[in-house]
Amino acid sequence: MELNLLTICYLIGSITFIIGLKMLSNPATARRGNLIAAAGMAIAIIGTIFLYQSEGQKLHNYGWIFGGLLIGGIIGTLAAKKVKMTAMPEMVSMFNGMGGACAALISLVEFNHLSKEMAKGIVTAGAEQPTVLIIVLGLIIGSVSFAGSMIAWGKLNGTVKDFSFAGQNILNLLILAVTLATGAYLVYSPIHPQLLYIILVLALLYGVFFVMPIGGADMPVVISLLNSFTGVAAACGGFLYDNKVMLTGGILVGAAGTLLTILMCKAMNRSLMNVLIGSFGVNKNAATHGGSGEQGQIKEISVSDAAMVMNYANKVMVVPGYGLAVAQAQHVCHELEKILEEKGVELKYAIHPVAGRMPGHMNVLLAEADVPYEKLLEMEEANEEFKTCDVVLVLGANDVVNPAAKNDPSSPIYGMPILEVELAKTVIVNKRSMKPGYAGIENSLFFQPKTSMLFGDAKKVLQDLCAEVKML
Ligand code: TAP
Repeated sequence: MELNLLTICYLIGSITFIIGLKMLSNPATARRGNLIAAAGMAIAIIGTIFLYQSEGQKLHNYGWIFGGLLIGGIIGTLAAKKVKMTAMPEMVSMFNGMGGACAALISLVEFNHLSKEMAKGIVTAGAEQPTVLIIVLGLIIGSVSFAGSMIAWGKLNGTVKDFSFAGQNILNLLILAVTLATGAYLVYSPIHPQLLYIILVLALLYGVFFVMPIGGADMPVVISLLNSFTGVAAACGGFLYDNKVMLTGGILVGAAGTLLTILMCKAMNRSLMNVLIGSFGVNKNAATHGGSGEQGQIKEISVSDAAMVMNYANKVMVVPGYGLAVAQAQHVCHELEKILEEKGVELKYAIHPVAGRMPGHMNVLLAEADVPYEKLLEMEEANEEFKTCDVVLVLGANDVVNPAAKNDPSSPIYGMPILEVELAKTVIVNKRSMKPGYAGIENSLFFQPKTSMLFGDAKKVLQDLCAEVKML
């Protein structure tokens, strides 16, 4: 009876994961989707704690279980409440690393159990080879994911610098090959428990070396890839315990992470291999920082002139980017939208798929400020509409509007689809300086005759624009 109830809990958990994931694909339903999946996870965890039985015995070490749940719950809640939107990729990386570490620990613990059973003659080494294979896979994938995620976390918060040396890729391949070969030997002959710790150390080393040389700009892609690794490692745990909900959850995370990685690479028009062994985004100081260079002179515009231009426009398109998130200017941006609309100006937002630092960054940011979803245009739609716009206001975006992606084959972002803002009549670009964006390259858009630069912090500039437009 209890086992059946537990199966039902796992079924509910699995179904809610699928429904939740589906709902996460739309900003309007994402919040509810997250809650539904979390509720399913809670049911699966509570079911396991109180209903799981092995050889007629229930779980008994409740002190440890609830102690861990309490500490983890408090840390998770505080971290989620405190985190700034711009630091979200960091937190995702850290939490993903914890998932990888859990999978690796499960493998260590279960191999220990198995070794004891083999020593007592309860099971034979030969019969346990499939289990050892799962244990070794979980250990390798989980450890790589843990170590890699920790390095990615350090890179995103600036504590770990990019580091590479000649021949690093070959060394990485060598470490991976030795790790896999040691793993294969342990599966073949599971009577050498010390090999497990050698595999652990090698896999951790591989995780560190794998992420260390990858440029900071590519961290979101790497995190998404490591996320899929953690999913696969968790699925190994599902196999090990014959636990359906762990298996479903792991497979969903693995598949979602893989798809997201592919989507991000596509949006940047780069192959995964290029991301993993390229050096895009490493050289941030490559571009000139002055107001003029080989590209020519820039033209500045004052807040009052910018307000005037927008006030008398029929249609304005806002292009949000990473700088809008840094400035936390989404609310005042929505304020400007309302003021302009009251004056009869049509205003929409053009959303580039990799604007910001994480997938859906701009959608989440603008949703936070209650900007209606129907005002957000995807890149293809926006590119169709730019030619009908009087003004494009670029707010803290840079790479996603860089024409070099279209017309400079030597550019590192060449081939990346961009928002073609120069099709509009006038372009106003707000940023604080002439510093490059994440790809570390100069932007010829800033030097075009129809472009005017509106320097300053996005929040301050938008507040001033609101005040000026109101007075007109
Ligand atoms: P970026 O190219 O990074 O440019 C952001 C600009 O915002 C900077 O040039 C910066 O110039 C400006 N800025 C910073 N703080 C500001 C503030 N307080 N007020 C006003 N402006 C401010 O951003 P983007 O156009 O959104 O492009 C995203 C980049 O990240 C792309 O290269 C993309 O490939 C990469 N990337 C994104 C993702 C995802 S999934 N979103 C994943 C991987 C890589 P100043 O310093 O002069 O102000």
